Order: sequence, then C-alpha cells, then structure tokens
Amino acid sequence: MNKITTLFNIKYPIIQAGMIWNSGYKLASAVSNAGGLGIIGAGSMYPEVLREHIQKCKKATSKPFGVNVPMLYPNIDEIINIIVDEGVKIVFTSAGNPKKWTSFLKEKGITVVHVVSSTIFALKAQEAGVDAIVAEGFEAGGHNGRDETTTFTLIPMVREKITIPLIAAGGIATGKGMLAAMVLGADGVQVGSRFAASTESSAHDNFKQTIVNVKEGDTQLTLKELAPVRLIKNKFYQDVQALYEKCPTKEELVELLGRARAKRGMFEGDLEEGELEIGQIAGLIHDIKPAAEIIDEMISEFETARKQTLNLDF
Ligand SMILES: Cc1cc2nc3c(=O)[nH]c(=O)nc-3n(C[C@H](O)[C@H](O)[C@H](O)COP(=O)(O)O)c2cc1C
Repeated sequence: MNKITTLFNIKYPIIQAGMIWNSGYKLASAVSNAGGLGIIGAGSMYPEVLREHIQKCKKATSKPFGVNVPMLYPNIDEIINIIVDEGVKIVFTSAGNPKKWTSFLKEKGITVVHVVSSTIFALKAQEAGVDAIVAEGFEAGGHNGRDETTTFTLIPMVREKITIPLIAAGGIATGKGMLAAMVLGADGVQVGSRFAASTESSAHDNFKQTIVNVKEGDTQLTLKELAPVRLIKNKFYQDVQALYEKCPTKEELVELLGRARAKRGMFEGDLEEGELEIGQIAGLIHDIKPAAEIIDEMISEFETARKQTLNLDF
C-alpha cells in the first residue's frame, strides 16, 4: 500500500489519464478491473453522454473509477451535477482554477485531484484543498503548460514544495518510467499516451496505428497562444506552422483551428485534417494491446527494474 493506492483504494498506483475521444467507459472499466484507476474523459462528452458512460462504467466494474473534467470546456455546471447525481467518488479537474469546484465537490464526499504543470500551480491546488496533485511534464500528450518543464525536473521540484500525494504524468509508459518517477518523489503515475493505443481506447484505429508509427521527434507542443497542445506533425500541424510564418493574430489561429478538429483526428480517423494529440513517449509504443496487459507488463517491469537498481554501480 502507498499513499495513492490508499487514497483511491486500488491495487496499483497507476492512473489511466482522462483523454478526450479516447477514454470512455470501456477503457476506464478495463483499467479499474486490472487494478489501476480508470478515468472517463468528460472533455469530449455532452452531459447526457457522460451520464451514459458513468452508468455503463458502474455496470462494467465494481472497482473505483473517476471522471476527468477539463474546466476549459462548456457545460461544466451540468457536468458536475451529473457527476454528483451519479455518485461518482473521484474527480480529476484540469485546465482551470482548482478553487472553483474543489470545496463543492469535497462537501459531496468526492476525492478531488487537480492537474498542474508547475510548482506554483501545485501550491495553489494544495491551498484549494485537493486530495492529490497530478504534475504533468512538457513531454505529455494533449494540452499542457507553457513553461516547457519536463517531468524529470518538475516532479522533484513539486515534491519539494507540497505535502499531499503526488502523481507524475508525462512520458511514462513503462514500469521503468514508473519507477523513475517514484524515485524522483511521485507516489503514483498517470499514463495517457500508452492507454490511447490500447484495445479499449475509443479512438479510431487510424489514430491508434499512427501512435504505433510515431517516432522520436514526430510531435511538437504548439498553439501556445490558445491552449498549448502537443500534436503529431501531420498536415493540420504543418498548416498551423505555415500560418505562424505570417505572424497571425489569435483570431486567425482560432479560425484555422476551427471546430471539432480533435474529434475529426482522433475519433473519426482523419489523419490529414484532424488534431492528433499524443505525447513524446509514443516513440516507445510499438503495439496496440488490452489495458490489462499494459498494466501487468508495467508492474512486472517495475518489479524487475526495482531489483536491478541494487546492482547499479559507478
Ligand atoms: C489523446 C489525449 C487526450 C487527452 N485529453 C485530456 C483531457 O481531456 N483532459 C486532461 O486533463 N488531460 C488530457 N490529456 C493529458 C493526459 O491526461 C495525461 O496527463 C498525459 O497524456 C500524460 O502524458 P503521456 O501522454 O506522456 O502519458 C490527454 C492526452 C492525450 C494523449
């Protein structure tokens, strides 16, 4: 048992990240059934779709699971009401101010975790009363902070300042990565990209196969003027770069981004025009497999690597 397994009442301190267009109830329940913490990504769901996923998740697993609420999307009040109404016990908030919802959720008996990308925001989240923090490094897939602080540097710096449980995210897809994050001070890990390429991920097969084909250097953090996001360098990404050459206004960037790009890319499988969010660690993901296998492999690699560290010498 450690702080994270105790907090969530789970077997392994592995959290499957909430991910738009990837983490519906199928992935969340598979991860929870395998001993991790599965999370439904509410960011891409209309409120009633979220309700359906929560209800299906409750049927698919008797283990704890959570919901991720990125606060940059609309309908947050409605989303929160559904979460409370459906009796969800764990909420991960991200992309917004943790002060807004933490006390309300905690009054309802919900465990609240907030995602940050810097020590300053980690301290603010702690002050807001969250139960744990996810510190997410620059290499992570999806939306991210502007400071470009890597997981390797962020985790020990956040650990130095906060007292509540800490979950590391960004660039972790293996047992060795998990061990490294925990040596640096994390109590558990949040894993996104690796689970995006799982059998149970709701992403389109085209996207999953693209993750497997991604190599080192194939992703980039961009659109910092809007909401910084790490994308695969496909045609849409190249169009963004071409617009940057013309020193665009924010409005011109918004216009190019348009609507539903992420859905088009990750859910509908349009590899040219869609937004394809993935982390740098995709270069280490070579296959699509069931979530339970991913967890089993991570845990057994973690155990082996932990023993091997005793042989480290210089
Ligand atoms: C496809 C994709 C979608 C994501 N969507 C969300 C989201 O909806 N909310 C959120 O808080 N983070 C989101 N993220 C970030 C993840 O929650 C997680 O912190 C990140 O993936 C960890 O880094 P890794 O990809 O290197 O494992 C997303 C990441 C990916 C790859």
